[in-house]
Amino acid sequence: MELPFAESFKIKMVESIRRSTREEREVWIKEAKYNLFNLKSDQVFIDLLTDSGTGAMSDKQWAAMMLGDESYAGARSYYNMKEAIKKIMGFEYFLPTHQGRAAENVLFSVLVKEGDVVPGNSHFDTTKGHIEFRKAHAVDCTIDEAFNTSLLHPFKGNIDLNKLEKVLKETPREKISMIVVTLTCNSSGGQPVSMQNMREVSAMAKKFGVLVCYDSARFAENAYFIKMREKGYENKSIKEIVLEMYQYADMATMSSKKDAIVNMGGFIGMKDENLFKQASVYNIMFEGFITYGGMSGRDMNALAQGLDESTEFDYLETRIKQIEYLGKRMTDFGIPVQLPYGGHAIFIDAKKCLSHIPKEQYVAQTLAVELYLEAGIRGVEIGTILADRDPDTRQDRYPELEFVRLAIPRRVYTNNHMDVIACAMKNVMDRKDAIKAGFKIINEAPILRHFTVELARCSTS
Ligand code: F0G
Repeated sequence: MELPFAESFKIKMVESIRRSTREEREVWIKEAKYNLFNLKSDQVFIDLLTDSGTGAMSDKQWAAMMLGDESYAGARSYYNMKEAIKKIMGFEYFLPTHQGRAAENVLFSVLVKEGDVVPGNSHFDTTKGHIEFRKAHAVDCTIDEAFNTSLLHPFKGNIDLNKLEKVLKETPREKISMIVVTLTCNSSGGQPVSMQNMREVSAMAKKFGVLVCYDSARFAENAYFIKMREKGYENKSIKEIVLEMYQYADMATMSSKKDAIVNMGGFIGMKDENLFKQASVYNIMFEGFITYGGMSGRDMNALAQGLDESTEFDYLETRIKQIEYLGKRMTDFGIPVQLPYGGHAIFIDAKKCLSHIPKEQYVAQTLAVELYLEAGIRGVEIGTILADRDPDTRQDRYPELEFVRLAIPRRVYTNNHMDVIACAMKNVMDRKDAIKAGFKIINEAPILRHFTVELARCSTS
């Protein structure tokens, strides 16, 4: 008999979580103004808000924490991190930052100017935020296949080379800050970019004389998909694949809270010394001295160890098979989700689930609130609220896809939790006709509104 798959770890420490009642949740979500970010974590049973900074560190990472060197300048931990980044990604230069968006802030302070254009594959919201804050424009060049959730395509994160070429041809060279390639592409469903696409983007960038930056938050998960899906890579190790990926980039921003499996941290990787020197000025201003940049020594040590672990096949197989397990359970229940299943999350196609709710009433947010009410599961809206207003017209932007993202923290939940999630979603779908209306915004911030937005229920009459 073939043995079933089992996790490549055992558990040494546990944290209690509590199931609440529907009555309790009704009160809490109303108090939270129907914004799941406003809930206390104790009001949540299974927390799938994000996979960012929510992972469980390994015994080796905790051991590395104890060896952290807290010297202000030139700490051993800094050199450990430097060595790990050089070994795994091949970057000669790097700057530590306190998280991914800080890396964007520092790097974009050097490279993004007012009126610039930044093509890429569905830029993440903080990336787009840092671009638009500088009065520049993010242009989405993701392949059209990504927008058909039921279509099976192995690399839905790919950049459409025709779309990219059009932008590069129509924009004066000095107005292109860089091309941003997001690995995996979070906004389109945790979908990977193929090695071939990376190679082709790099060739086109060279032809037009522009820089390529990898938004690297989930680079290791991307490498796993290359190994499993792209011809010629099946016998390569994840570490070999990662090294090749970074041959096609000039620089990278990293949120270490994802694929470096730490609770806080980030960095910028660079190949050019001059860029490193320019970015260092902003790093010192915004983050801290260049050998710690917002991170403590112990955190830099854990990060170095985490980078090594996340680029091991066994870890990635356990991780991605859990996402797949949840995806399959959802599919078996007939719940429409982005296919193929992504690397860090299952993305539920909310428009298909609640086709009777008008888009002006925030369909994905409505579904996310219902899932919370059903079982205390906290997902996140990746839809109109996140897409924010157009910076020029100030009108709501309606993205092609409205998702509820269920992001799975690394090494945290078991497949029993996955079963609860799938069954809760099934229950929501069974009573969907009783969900008569969505929400309206009563308060919002001028930028990155989804974190603090306040909502009220629309009337059903
Ligand atoms: N890039 C991508 C692709 C991301 O997913 C994130 C964060 C960032 C950059 C910014 O990194 O949070 O460390 O400042 N994503 C989290 C999420 C918040 O829930 O997907 P950060």
